[in-house]
Amino acid sequence: MAQIIDGKKISTQIKDECRERTAALAAQGITVTLAVIQVGSDPASSVYVRNKKRACEYCGIRSLSYELPETVSEEELLNLIRELNSRADVNGILVQLPLPKHISEDRVTEAIDPGKDVDGFHPMSVGALSIGKPGFVSCTPQGVIELLKRSGISIRRKECVVVGRSNIVGKPMAMLLLRENGTVTVTHSATVNLKEVTRRADILVVAIGKPGFITGDDLKEGAVVIDVGINRGADGKLCGDVDFESARKVASWITPVPGGVGPMTIAMLMSNCVKSVEMKR
Ligand code: GUN
Repeated sequence: MAQIIDGKKISTQIKDECRERTAALAAQGITVTLAVIQVGSDPASSVYVRNKKRACEYCGIRSLSYELPETVSEEELLNLIRELNSRADVNGILVQLPLPKHISEDRVTEAIDPGKDVDGFHPMSVGALSIGKPGFVSCTPQGVIELLKRSGISIRRKECVVVGRSNIVGKPMAMLLLRENGTVTVTHSATVNLKEVTRRADILVVAIGKPGFITGDDLKEGAVVIDVGINRGADGKLCGDVDFESARKVASWITPVPGGVGPMTIAMLMSNCVKSVEMKR
């Protein structure tokens, strides 16, 4: 039976470390500040934004809230970003996605100063990651690396398989595993004989967005299974992309949903906010 990787516990450790880092900066008269922009009032986005602001409070980070109406023009949003880029007292800028259809997410993402890009979505941040230069890294995949390291699981020389190739999770996940000297395969909807590939994995990261997509039968005995999925099951409960009950019988380590990768995303956002100040100094 697999050991559980406790994302709630590990995310709290990271937030506590952030709190110590912000206290050290505060002693030098520096307040870490994150600007959070939400356009419209999508209920899921409102929950995420509220949780991010709450985490800021816990970590001693000042958060500035910008709630713009659904009808705001792209130019108005870009102007706000430009203003926040120029403000010396703002260290991180986050625009909650998705945005309304009349606004280009690409143009908005690219408008953010890469030095304040705490989401790590700017092409400059993505490029820096891919060539091994310092920069901000997307929070969820960075959280996965922390879960592995803090559980004492080494990545070096391991066969790592990523299921899913999104810009926010799959692709940066592959880059980070590579940076840690794993041997990495990225699979996706057009992969032939997926099971043959996932069964090779010592470390399997699943970010495909389909409930119960991976089962125990898809795993190598003793695999480490990281479930990035957050889905709402037919019973209304949260579930991951991995069928937990069958997978836990085969895996050596596994993340639950909820309480696995989920809480790590916000913890790494907090860490990126503190890093934005530390990097400049
Ligand atoms: N929407 C869903 N996840 C995220 C995220 O990590 N960052 C932002 N900005 N928007 C999101």
